[in-house]
Amino acid sequence: MSRWVITGGTGMFGTDLAAVARDKGHEVVALGSGDCDIRDLETVRQTVAGADVVVNAAAYTAVDAAETDEAAAFALNATGAHNVAVAAREAGAKLVHISTDYVFDGSSSEPYDENTPQNPQSAYGRTKAAGEWAVRAAHPDALVVRTAWLYGEHGPNFVTTMLRLAGSHETLHVVDDQHGQPTWTLDLAHYTVALLENDAPGGYYHGTSEGSTTWFDFTREIFRLSGLDPERVQPTTSDKFPRPAPRPANSVLAHRRSDGGLPIWGVALADFFDSRDNSALTPVRSNSCLRF
Ligand SMILES: NC(=O)c1ccc[n+]([C@@H]2O[C@H](COP(=O)([O-])OP(=O)(O)OC[C@H]3O[C@@H](n4cnc5c(N)ncnc54)[C@H](OP(=O)(O)O)[C@@H]3O)[C@@H](O)[C@H]2O)c1
Repeated sequence: MSRWVITGGTGMFGTDLAAVARDKGHEVVALGSGDCDIRDLETVRQTVAGADVVVNAAAYTAVDAAETDEAAAFALNATGAHNVAVAAREAGAKLVHISTDYVFDGSSSEPYDENTPQNPQSAYGRTKAAGEWAVRAAHPDALVVRTAWLYGEHGPNFVTTMLRLAGSHETLHVVDDQHGQPTWTLDLAHYTVALLENDAPGGYYHGTSEGSTTWFDFTREIFRLSGLDPERVQPTTSDKFPRPAPRPANSVLAHRRSDGGLPIWGVALADFFDSRDNSALTPVRSNSCLRF
């Protein structure tokens, strides 16, 4: 048994990670912003002292808001991540830091492998890219695990949003020109625990599902698994649905260091639906359309 501290341990991923680590017999302290604000180095030092393992899952994740509030995003995603790395290094603890596909430019026709140079196109991506460098500078043995398109039981996410909208809109228009890997937080939690328990070496890892899809096909599969008519989901393009932060056309990450780490996205999604009670789905109430 080892002592784990999870910053961001109250978030969508952190909650699943804490549960999996506890299930494996580890002693886990899972912290939210009120327990340990990672922007304050002394607080983080006191919190992390005595830990064997530190996982930083805390982040400023509001991608669009970051475009007009980059300093706040930087304070958490770069300076905060650096603080956690400094404290983990001083404590002699292993460190996993969670990062994102947004550190890449999204314009490649190929999956991004672990050593592709960063080229973020959004404020959120810039702050997360800075966090990766800061973590590796302060804690050279750190594992930086990039993930993408997360959904899970413990936070708002694309799956729950689509199911909510299915209750109020007959037709949903969803973009069919952005490619990625829907990833269940519980699978990422098992993957992260396995990396730590197997003493994986420091460096970059891609913690996303195998295979790839588009938001449109992902939504159709969400509808199908929920017993809803997938034809209610219709394709659209990103140019018809502008957002403050640019979205990567290609978020697909290669798994050169970690083949077989996570299941194929469709299998994972089916398992996620098996694990939850869908009986709370609300009926269709209007014929309006939405675009995503
Ligand atoms: N969601 C995605 O689709 C996605 C995609 C790619 C990468 N990621 C990355 O995956 C990681 C986990 O994401 P998530 O979706 O699970 O995040 P989340 O649900 O938004 O949770 C964020 C966590 O950060 C904590 N936090 C916020 N401000 C803090 C502060 N100042 N000090 C310490 N903790 C603070 C929150 O605590 P409170 O509960 O107290 O606010 C919460 O526990 C992040 O690194 C994110 O960048 C996510």
